[in-house]
Amino acid sequence: MPSYAYLKKKFVPLEEAKIGVMTNFAHYGTGVFEGIRGNWNKDRKQLYIFRLKEHYDRLMSGCRVLNIDLPYTVDDLCKLTVKLVAKSQLKEDVYIRPVAYKSSEAMGVRLHNLENDFFAFVFPWGRYLDTDRARCSVSSWRFPTEVPRAKLTGLYVTNALAKSEAVGNGFDEAIMLTPGGYVAEGSGENLFLVIGDKLVTPPASDGILIGITRDAIMKLAKNELGIETVERHVNRLELYNADEIFMTGTAAHVTPISEIDRRKVADGEIGKVTAKLQKLYHDVILCKNKKYSDWCTPVYTK
Ligand SMILES: Cc1ncc(COP(=O)(O)O)c(C=O)c1O
Repeated sequence: MPSYAYLKKKFVPLEEAKIGVMTNFAHYGTGVFEGIRGNWNKDRKQLYIFRLKEHYDRLMSGCRVLNIDLPYTVDDLCKLTVKLVAKSQLKEDVYIRPVAYKSSEAMGVRLHNLENDFFAFVFPWGRYLDTDRARCSVSSWRFPTEVPRAKLTGLYVTNALAKSEAVGNGFDEAIMLTPGGYVAEGSGENLFLVIGDKLVTPPASDGILIGITRDAIMKLAKNELGIETVERHVNRLELYNADEIFMTGTAAHVTPISEIDRRKVADGEIGKVTAKLQKLYHDVILCKNKKYSDWCTPVYTK
């Protein structure tokens, strides 16, 4: 199946999309990225991109942090992305990776006096965490909160350290703490605890990435299940006593957590609230729920 890229203002087959070894962002992490999913609805033979505009709004706010002035509007980027995915003709779940970056082939740690550019590519991607129930561990790596939690490529080295530490120790995913010791997020997911009749999730002020899936889950929980979400500091010990815990992310969707630090979450089975949210979310991303159809952008014209 062909995978395509958009690079230097041209659509090219993915294997032809190359950048030079001196490109500034490859050395100093001076890039902003997004992860967007297209979800294949096989009954309708349609690929739906989930919350496309919201992803590009977040990319643009990261661009402001890195002083990246792109010659595109959010609307241009959305249109370009639909075109890119349509070119691929992929008929399965896909992942789209856009990157805005310091594109000059110039050495030197800085943000100024550098050119900016944008590329994106699409490829087939099934499950991210290859499990129905994730086993997690609290990481020894804490993320820096000084830098704003935009999706800056340079920030993800901490997440990579945490993820590999967890996998090396036999777990599926890492849970990172803030420098102050509060529970923050997974290496690529936000976290929710079910405590009594409420959802609890770390607040933006703890420096987490404000996930688009996190936002969708908070809205679905409130509108469809009447469950409120409390955004507050979460202590590590609460992870061992919650009724249910799950992670959310574009790549990981809604993934139940069965175990943390070798302690079962409740009985270790998928909790009732988690299961309901998983089902709701699954229908919404496949555009099966009319109420949320404006979150889904169809790729193929028929
Ligand atoms: C560190 C981190 N937290 C949370 C998320 C979840 O965000 P979203 O739901 O927008 O994919 C991601 C994924 O992008 C992430 O990298």
